Amino acid sequence: MVKICCIGAGYVGGPTMAVIALKCPSIEVAVVDISKSRIAAWNSDQLPIYEPGLDSVVKQCRGKNLFFSTDVEKHVFEADIVFVSVNTPTKTRGLGAGKAADLTYWESAARMIADVSKSDKIVVEKSTVPVKTAEAIEKILTHNAKGINFQILSNPEFLAEGTAIQDLFNPDRVLIGGRETPGGQKAIQTLKEVYAHWVPEERILTTNLWSAELSKLAANAFLAQRISSVNAMSALCEATGANVKQVSFAVGTDTRIGPKFLNASVGFGGSCFQKDILNLVYICECNGLPEVAEYWKQVIKINDYQKSRFVNRVVSSMFNTVANKKIAILGFAFKKDTGDTRETPAIDVCKGLLGDKARLSIYDPQVTEDQIQRDLWMNKFDWDHPIHLQPTSPTTEKKVSVVWDAYEATKDADGVCILTEWDEFKNLDYQKIYDNMRKPAFVFDGRNIVDMDKLREIGFIVYSIGKPLDPWLKDMPAVA
Ligand code: NAI
Repeated sequence: MVKICCIGAGYVGGPTMAVIALKCPSIEVAVVDISKSRIAAWNSDQLPIYEPGLDSVVKQCRGKNLFFSTDVEKHVFEADIVFVSVNTPTKTRGLGAGKAADLTYWESAARMIADVSKSDKIVVEKSTVPVKTAEAIEKILTHNAKGINFQILSNPEFLAEGTAIQDLFNPDRVLIGGRETPGGQKAIQTLKEVYAHWVPEERILTTNLWSAELSKLAANAFLAQRISSVNAMSALCEATGANVKQVSFAVGTDTRIGPKFLNASVGFGGSCFQKDILNLVYICECNGLPEVAEYWKQVIKINDYQKSRFVNRVVSSMFNTVANKKIAILGFAFKKDTGDTRETPAIDVCKGLLGDKARLSIYDPQVTEDQIQRDLWMNKFDWDHPIHLQPTSPTTEKKVSVVWDAYEATKDADGVCILTEWDEFKNLDYQKIYDNMRKPAFVFDGRNIVDMDKLREIGFIVYSIGKPLDPWLKDMPAVA
């Protein structure tokens, strides 16, 4: 029986391995992590991440050919294939701080693999890593190998949170990069056979190592670039009276462009886009390509601009001050159908409003109070480090309350900011919300999900990104 071990039981390691176990009953899969609480949650009825369809997949295989454990060394020792899916945050200190990927977790995983291995292994990079990481990992492994043969493969993950199970069942492609040596090609073949249990052969792409590593960074840069492009257009739409929904529809019907990823919003978030682009920027700089670095940096700058533009709209609409006003925040996760808040635009928007002394009442169907408080007091880039290294929120802070209901959040509020596109926010009883708010009552729709006309009929002053402005907002300054 082939044995797989995955180091890192996070958003990628957990769902990916669960699907491999489901689709390959003949393979034994162990997912290991240094975090005891995470592993305990994977072994309980309350999984550590919210992902539609994940519960059912885990329930079908857990205890049969899928195991979650903190016994990292035992499972690595036994495995034929070791996936490494640990976090690769942006460095916060030293050379490349604020840009380069921090490979501390990756390196310690690689050293541990070298230490405990007694048989040949295929080591698979699942984490998103800088180009040529495989080379560094190869060096660590071979210098400590004691005669063991390690083959390194790059198999970046393209799943999107919120649709992870669907994406894993039916991927656009699986990408496997390896050395162009006979040993490398054999390892590629072995991994290909795992995926071939359910992925059609023509969707399994094989490349050299560096192409696979770079393709992941490039894919994320292109996706984020589309969002920043449409968000840049949204600012122009507001200035001219065009409607960004109409513009993006017209643009997206061009088959060369396509309709996906063209929704204007308060900005992109998630653990990957910003980190991976910063990483790409750093790699370009290190390779003497400052113009290319500058080009990709703009994607992040527009994203930051979009978030601060949104905050400015809120503040300027409300008579240039939100001091002591109650603002309801509907949605905190970086997108719907996930509880993940890493790099969510809600953090910057909330911090911006708190900077102007607003009182916030936050509701998200999947994010806990503890997580929100932690996010709002954490330093930039600290979020992707272990929990014991993160600051806890000052208990005296009374400006933020977290509630479990949208009506509670909006009660007596002066304004409502919609920051995540949860379906339930489309169907709220906005008349009831209006009746319970202070007047004038404002809605700032950061995801373009509400029916503006209907809300205006009720009496709200509505701002919706990239849409023709409410007369109220027209002459208010909106740019940072
Ligand atoms: P995560 O933070 O949810 O999970 C990483 C896990 O690795 C943590 O539970 C941590 O405790 C564990 N870990 C760290 N060092 C370890 C060690 N030495 N031994 C054992 N466990 C260790 O991260 P996530 O979101 O799963 O991302 C993992 C990688 O996949 C990152 O490189 C990310 O860029 C990439 N990725 C993430 C996607 C996403 O949607 N979240 C999508 C595609 C790629």
